[in-house]
Amino acid sequence: MRKDKGSELLNRQSIPPRLVGDPGPTDDDINYMLDAAVRAPDHGAVRPWRFHVIQKQALERLGQVFAEALQRRDKEASNEALEKERKRPLRAPLIITVCAKIDEERTNKIPVVEQVVSAGTACQNILLAAHERGYGAMMLTGANAHDPYVKRAFGLNDRDEIVSFIYIGTPSSQYIEKERPHAQEFTKYW
Ligand SMILES: Cc1cc2nc3c(=O)[nH]c(=O)nc-3n(C[C@H](O)[C@H](O)[C@H](O)COP(=O)(O)O)c2cc1C
Repeated sequence: MRKDKGSELLNRQSIPPRLVGDPGPTDDDINYMLDAAVRAPDHGAVRPWRFHVIQKQALERLGQVFAEALQRRDKEASNEALEKERKRPLRAPLIITVCAKIDEERTNKIPVVEQVVSAGTACQNILLAAHERGYGAMMLTGANAHDPYVKRAFGLNDRDEIVSFIYIGTPSSQYIEKERPHAQEFTKYW
């Protein structure tokens, strides 16, 4: 992997929830991540981003929402599967859920995709801010992110998007640095 001297940016990688733990980010760290998030590029200053900071008991509440959503998706879901959903958010000390609340009155000039992309770049800013502060973080979606019941729990309608649940915590030292492809493989110079 190419690493420019002093460039932490090129050291960022996603750290899965199983490799992060306590302590979670401080309030100051969380505010820093959110301040980075609202510096996302945003065509027309639509500000489609909505951030939900979920810690401690709130992680259990989110797990309950996930379990209820599964029960609605699959009436025959096993107790084991429901329990897995209940426990899913407990894998990291902090989740920031990043949503795109689509401004329907602006979609003629700022299409839905651009509003969602803006929320996606807010996610990336959160990942980078977390990395800068020494935390491991990863964007996760899965069935819950696209489930109308879960969306409603975040105050969204069907056109809005949960762009990701970002799981954040202190990384264990066990993670392995990933090999990265060469940018040239994906690049043409005009
Ligand atoms: C919108 C979005 C949703 C994602 N959802 C998942 C997911 O549900 N499960 C998963 O294993 N990886 C998911 N990923 C991929 C990881 O967040 C991560 O980017 C990937 O493991 C590659 O790691 P890297 O960021 O270090 O390159 C998602 C990525 C994005 C952009």
